[in-house]
Amino acid sequence: MSSSATAKLDKHYGIIRAMRMVDLFDADPQRADYMSISLGPLYCDFSKNRIDDETLRLLVEWAQAQKLPSAIQALFAGRPLNTTEKRPALHTVLRQTGDAPCEVAGHDVVPNVRQVQQRMRDYVNATRASERYRHVINIGVGGSDLGPQMVCRALRGQADGHFDPHFISNMDAHPLSETLAQCDPAKTLVIITSKSFTTLETLHNADKLKAWLVDAVGEEVANQQLVAVTAKPELAEQYGVQTDQIFPFWDWVGGRYSMWSAVGLSIALVQGWAQFEQLLQGAAAMDEHFASAPLEANLPVVLALLGCWYRNWFDYSSHCMAPYEERLEFLVPYLKQLDMESNGKTVGRAGEPVGGKTGPIIWGQPGTNAQHAFFQWLHQGRDIAPVDFIASKTPEHDYLDSHRQLLANAIAQAEALLTGKQAPTGQPHRQFDGNRPSNFLLLDELNAYSLGMLIALYEHKVFVQGWMWGLNSFDQWGVELGKQLASTIDYELSSGQAASGHDCSTQSLINRISE
Ligand code: F6P
Repeated sequence: MSSSATAKLDKHYGIIRAMRMVDLFDADPQRADYMSISLGPLYCDFSKNRIDDETLRLLVEWAQAQKLPSAIQALFAGRPLNTTEKRPALHTVLRQTGDAPCEVAGHDVVPNVRQVQQRMRDYVNATRASERYRHVINIGVGGSDLGPQMVCRALRGQADGHFDPHFISNMDAHPLSETLAQCDPAKTLVIITSKSFTTLETLHNADKLKAWLVDAVGEEVANQQLVAVTAKPELAEQYGVQTDQIFPFWDWVGGRYSMWSAVGLSIALVQGWAQFEQLLQGAAAMDEHFASAPLEANLPVVLALLGCWYRNWFDYSSHCMAPYEERLEFLVPYLKQLDMESNGKTVGRAGEPVGGKTGPIIWGQPGTNAQHAFFQWLHQGRDIAPVDFIASKTPEHDYLDSHRQLLANAIAQAEALLTGKQAPTGQPHRQFDGNRPSNFLLLDELNAYSLGMLIALYEHKVFVQGWMWGLNSFDQWGVELGKQLASTIDYELSSGQAASGHDCSTQSLINRISE
């Protein structure tokens, strides 16, 4: 990572480290005006960061030196940025508004995208109109679960009640058995969502759901109630899903970037096609901004560079997400996968070891509940975690005084982290050091469009950070070893064959469970 740009940042860090943000605010009352970006319904104030104009200038210089503008172009143009899997990462094509061609291996993929979207739209409209179903269960895990679940929860108040959505992901069958207890099999549509159609948890749960349907309604009807979303349609067919009930997507859509594809079928069914389109359009607006805004005014770029500043110079190891929105309760799990599966790596794009610090731990919880859980740590703990506050100006409900207090709390927490407070004499436990950074993202209101923008913002932030660290953000080899070992251990447990070759700790756990 070392270059003349980083050497300048090293030197500059020495100056900024010694400064307090409150002094920067005192010296420059306009700071919040120019350290903020407004994009349609999304406003982001990043003035409460340990930066000055020079920091931003140097970070942008570093990004230029790392050829970030070419990387952004390469992303949109479908260059094979996923080097280990030799494929592009083209989630942006799924939400592009026009039909501008985009080639993968010499073949324009846009007509195919439009054709699947048309099939999805027809299916969604017909299924909703038929009123045959009351429940939709999405079976999938990771990227085949987290996005749809997060969106359906966030927009629940804006759904028209056609479907009750359910999400089954875990190998732990407690959620499965609880869900089945709530659903009438004759009125339940089951979507098996798996890019690979080989994921253990998903296929295992699909078997259970299929058997549950067949038991209740017989095989022929059960087959009409089974849908698959996958990049391996041939495997879904082998599994027994009818061809016309299989919605494909493509290997150039990464799992954690896939909710814009047919993976979003549960969203479209539950929210209706118009809202699914709004989600895509919000993301497209963020794409447009990311592709065209100069680096210093480019929100995903600015947030990413600030994250690098903290990770690589201040050595902050985590980033806290605090949506002041219970409707965004599944945003943090979603962002954990997006960020940590993308950038939790130390091998560079050319296979070389990456020397510096890479992806932070992403954690958090909605406020105000979070204030009664871990804000003590944020204010007075030894470590520092930058915080993203996310809130919306207008609520969906009529309890305006509650919403006012919610926003007051979010703003107050960001202010407290900034300013801190001197302890009264003799009461050191009441000392707040302050000088702790945060961003504040304010949506006009939480709806499909603004949510689409917000998610695309974080997708691009993660991409930029991965690029700056020299990583390929689009593979996830780190999940493989555990999967392989689990399959061996499951065989040992189920066959009763003595385990061998394990360390003594693993061996003794296997023995205890086998007893
Ligand atoms: O956790 C590994 C992973 O491959 C994720 O990247 C992916 O989102 C998830 O498993 C599910 O994979 P699939 O959609 O192939 O079932």
